[in-house]
Amino acid sequence: MSTSKGTFITFEGIDGCGKSTQVKMLVEALNKHQRKTILVREPGGTTISEEIRDILLHRHLADICDRTEALLMTGSRAQLTYEVILPNLNQGKNVIADRYYDSTLAYQGGGRELDLDWLIKLNQFATYDLEPNVTFFVDVLPEEAIRRKSQEPDRIERAGIELQMRVRNIYLDLANRFQDRFVVLDGHESIENIHGDILSELRRRKLFL
Ligand code: ADP
Ligand code: TYD
Repeated sequence: MSTSKGTFITFEGIDGCGKSTQVKMLVEALNKHQRKTILVREPGGTTISEEIRDILLHRHLADICDRTEALLMTGSRAQLTYEVILPNLNQGKNVIADRYYDSTLAYQGGGRELDLDWLIKLNQFATYDLEPNVTFFVDVLPEEAIRRKSQEPDRIERAGIELQMRVRNIYLDLANRFQDRFVVLDGHESIENIHGDILSELRRRKLFL
């Protein structure tokens, strides 16, 4: 793992679980307390990564094979890590990411059923071995997440509830396998309660606040 001065926090979960809501609230809360914090989201976050996002989610709809999907997701991540995440952490800023490498394990591993150990190696390569200090997994049942999503579904969301169920199961396995890093949040709670749980956990870990 690379050495860095800022704290790196990632948020994970199935589509519509409520993580973007929590990410925004946390960034605001930290900046209000003068903790310089930036927000990134995946796939995307740099010029190159946003172009990759466009290919992945909106164009060439049915054409992308599972391995290309994994390589493009991690390609976008490599650029974001190199260009934005590492330099900001090295300057002492905190970085909050709306999805990071566990998304590839959950979606391309669980969802598309690619080999998990191989994806872990690919992720290590793409991220220059940068690991989050803590990962919040916002857990909701797929039925509830689908109910919450009001916008037009993107290419991956259109793959349906079975994919979201496999994705959720891998997240639960990852939370079990990497217990020190993962915090499982009950996404069925109210937005305010979940935010409160996140702040308490960060205090407990003596990260900010
Ligand atoms: P994600 O980023 O995980 O796809 P969002 O944060 O965009 O999810 O939330 C999806 C929808 O669900 C939004 O309309 C949001 O207001 C709503 N939402 C978020 N958190 C909760 C919650 N805890 N309870 C009920 N609705 C929620
Ligand atoms: P986005 O609109 O950002 O969805 P959300 O608000 O749910 O995060 O779309 C990102 C989609 O890309 C989402 O369906 C998850 C998927 N994804 C992967 O399949 N693998 C990955 O490595 C990442 C980062 C995202």
